[in-house]
Amino acid sequence: EFEDVCEQTGVTLSRYCIELANRGKIDEDLNSIFNSIREAAKVIAKLVNTAPLQQAELLGLQGEINVQGEDQKKLDVITNDVFKNALRYTGKLGTLASEEEDEPVDGSVGGSEAIPLLSDEFADTGKYICVFDPLDGSSNVDAGIPVGTIFGVFEEPSPAECELPADLSKGLSEEQQRCLAGTLQPGKSLVAAGYVLYSASTELVLTFGQGVVGFTLDTSIGEFVMTRPSIQIPPRGKIYSANTGNIGEWDQPMREYIQTIRAGKGETDTPYSLRYIGSMVGDIHRTLLYGGIFAYPADNKNQDGKLRLLYEGAPMSFIMEQAGGKAITGHSRVLDIPPVGVHQRVPVILGSAEDVEECKKFFDESN
Ligand code: AHG
Ligand code: MN
Ligand code: MN
Ligand code: MN
Repeated sequence: EFEDVCEQTGVTLSRYCIELANRGKIDEDLNSIFNSIREAAKVIAKLVNTAPLQQAELLGLQGEINVQGEDQKKLDVITNDVFKNALRYTGKLGTLASEEEDEPVDGSVGGSEAIPLLSDEFADTGKYICVFDPLDGSSNVDAGIPVGTIFGVFEEPSPAECELPADLSKGLSEEQQRCLAGTLQPGKSLVAAGYVLYSASTELVLTFGQGVVGFTLDTSIGEFVMTRPSIQIPPRGKIYSANTGNIGEWDQPMREYIQTIRAGKGETDTPYSLRYIGSMVGDIHRTLLYGGIFAYPADNKNQDGKLRLLYEGAPMSFIMEQAGGKAITGHSRVLDIPPVGVHQRVPVILGSAEDVEECKKFFDESN
């Protein structure tokens, strides 16, 4: 039975996706897309794991500023190309959106250069859209601190569902409007999401909306092997994960909540410990397995926080909810937010259901 397949560790990611496709739980196109994600993850793992041995090519700054206003690392650019091209060669994607691309780009086969959305050659071939952060936590990569990749997959909306707000559709052709509308979907429309953690081990965690499954790269056979058939986040933890260097800038409810739980004055009367590595994928993977709460809240400088909704907040919130956790901005559910921009930022507070509920009470009282 399929559940037996899931319970067996030793099943490879390839086999798992084939079993899902055989049972009609995913279609062949999605199987092909995950085949390419798996290959790209192995290539990026190798690049990250060996970067210090090829410092000139792989470490340090690219010398460019990306659309986020960040100094791009060489590996930001290289991993973006690896992921983009792996996806494009499936021929199953209409559009790709990445942290490292100004605009959504053409997802069609053989697109060796980013074909800007706003060009007429845009050929919409596939029926899926992939949004991704090719290298998350890249400021850590020169020091060998864990980094990751985050991805989400949407289905192309039907033309009828493609109404964009007027200010967004201005000057766009029919085709381009469909492409942008397909990209700017709320997290609740995701059909799949996942992340890769490049750390002491290389972990790939994914969801197709039927629970969360974890795989570990077995380098001796070059395959991701199932190691966590069904990940459920503990309902309550005792770790908080946030950059408390900004606590003076946070909105009041967040500041009060953190001060309460770290003093042991919260609902569990236990003082919480701080664990924060500054790589969202690493901090969230630990939260998913150990329980507790991760937050990149709004602050006085950034009312929408720092994390990007489309390819960081939404995929991670989908995974968290699928694992029995919760994900809010403070006031609303992250998955309900319709993006109005590819790189729109959103405050993110996610983790164990009881911890997130406790935090939300501080926001509700502040209303
Ligand atoms: P990225 O490297 O993809 O730009 O993302 C970095 C993010 C995220 O990984 C992490 O949680 C956060 O930046 C850390 O920000 P601070 O250094 O401000 O805490
Ligand atoms: Mn970045
Ligand atoms: Mn990131
Ligand atoms: Mn990144």
